[in-house]
Amino acid sequence: MEMARLIYVSRMTDAREMEAIHDILEKSRENNAARNITVILCYDPLFVLQCREGPKNEVNALYRRILRDDRPSDALLLGYKGVQERGFGNWKMAFIKRAEIDPNTLLAFTRGEKLDPYVLSYERAGNFLVTIAAQERERLDTQR
Ligand SMILES: Cc1cc2nc3c(=O)[nH]c(=O)nc-3n(C[C@H](O)[C@H](O)[C@H](O)COP(=O)(O)O)c2cc1C
Repeated sequence: MEMARLIYVSRMTDAREMEAIHDILEKSRENNAARNITVILCYDPLFVLQCREGPKNEVNALYRRILRDDRPSDALLLGYKGVQERGFGNWKMAFIKRAEIDPNTLLAFTRGEKLDPYVLSYERAGNFLVTIAAQERERLDTQR
């Protein structure tokens, strides 16, 4: 099965805290593992920018379920494309708080503007997520 990457941005309906999303993802962990889906998520109190990678049919099915879920609002699909390989290897889930992103990385992507993922292209959002996931990975590795 061809692999695909899906990137979307949404908000939460009831201004839930990051921990709530973290809980949802914890609960999704088994689902995602069984479906070979990996996740990169960038959380800001104002939005959740997310990437899902995995087999095309599974990524599609997950997005349909998420759209039926009434917790996310203003979901905007930034893009969906087939990929040769995952952008962040076999790491199952990268959960990154916007406030913890390296300021220079943020600056390079936003060119000094406020980060608004609703106006990002699929390519730019993908590069951004893959970059911050790699940095988070490095940070966690050096903590060990
Ligand atoms: C921000 C957010 C992220 C989510 N990510 C996932 C995910 O990665 N995997 C998953 O199975 N469900 C995820 N869900 C939950 C789905 O929306 C849905 O509730 C779940 O897949 C169960 O769907 P079902 O009841 O139709 O089987 C997420 C929900 C939210 C609000």
